[in-house]
Amino acid sequence: MKEKIESIKTQMLEELSNVSDIKVLNDLKVKYQGKKGLITEATSLIKEVPVEQKKEVGMLINDLRNAFDERYSEIEAELNKKLLDERLAKESVDITLPATTLEEGAPSILEKVIEDFEEVFMSMGYDVVDGPEIEEDKYNFELLGLPKGHPARDAQDTFYLKGDELLLRSHTSPVQARTMLAKGGNEPVRIICPGKAYRRDEDDATHSHQFTQIEGLLVDKDIKLSDLKGTITTICKHMFGEDTVTRFRPSYYQFTEPSVEMDISCFACKGKGCSICKNTGWITIGGAGVVHYDVLKGCGYDPDKWTGFAFGFGAERCAMLKYGISDIRTFYNVDLRETKAFDRREEE
Ligand code: PHE
Repeated sequence: MKEKIESIKTQMLEELSNVSDIKVLNDLKVKYQGKKGLITEATSLIKEVPVEQKKEVGMLINDLRNAFDERYSEIEAELNKKLLDERLAKESVDITLPATTLEEGAPSILEKVIEDFEEVFMSMGYDVVDGPEIEEDKYNFELLGLPKGHPARDAQDTFYLKGDELLLRSHTSPVQARTMLAKGGNEPVRIICPGKAYRRDEDDATHSHQFTQIEGLLVDKDIKLSDLKGTITTICKHMFGEDTVTRFRPSYYQFTEPSVEMDISCFACKGKGCSICKNTGWITIGGAGVVHYDVLKGCGYDPDKWTGFAFGFGAERCAMLKYGISDIRTFYNVDLRETKAFDRREEE
């Protein structure tokens, strides 16, 4: 029996000394101390040992069990330390390396121009409103003096959806009709509506199938063309500089009478003539006019009591002029380097 214990011990210590991972260590625990383990088995044999040897054999088995436990804890600690060291080595961070910086955004220059417009109009008591981009023919055309079959509709190459009742609005002017109808004809209107409009244009440096307009509408008592001129002049001085001069040229829109094109003096050459203004000294920034009698009537306002003016700025055009951008596509390509460059220029 004593030899048996001795041989278990030798084998056990040998096997333990070869352990290199925690799984093998656990297998050994089962092999020696499990229910059918060698040490457990040896313990059960004590009862067959003659009485006078029982004490000695019992002590030997105890030593054996203690020896196992001792080595087991030592090896377990070593292996855990090794695992931890390996993990730390793998996860180590070289703090001398340059940090990765997160790319910061910058406000879109078009968005900024729109916000500038909103701010100055709001300071003049205008509300900023919204309208749907998918629009009904009724608002986009009919209520604005363009019944079906009207030849002037062709000028606004429209994207129609589902037959000819729904379309992508070809300008923001339908918001005029929507706003007046919503107000009910009894109270003054003072709104602007910045938003997208769509036309079947070929995209090039100055045209895009999707562009942004800033629509404006004021309806009140005794409103005249001169009120429009005064308002537009104030806005343009704010947007393009105090020395900006505005000019109205006669034009034609079905929903305003009289109608005008709004020009501003070229801020680059101060009206002397340069490449930006094509040597004319003037730059067109949008259309406007006095709200047509029939439009007021069709939208629930008594045209004998109420008058108003409306205007539509081309937002990209204004931004292009303000920031010296020569290609409208600049606004739709999301190159952060470009956006940031404009942002820096703004801060200077
Ligand atoms: N809706 C017109 C356009 O898209 C611009 C405009 C707006 C003209 C308001 C007059 C009044 O060209």
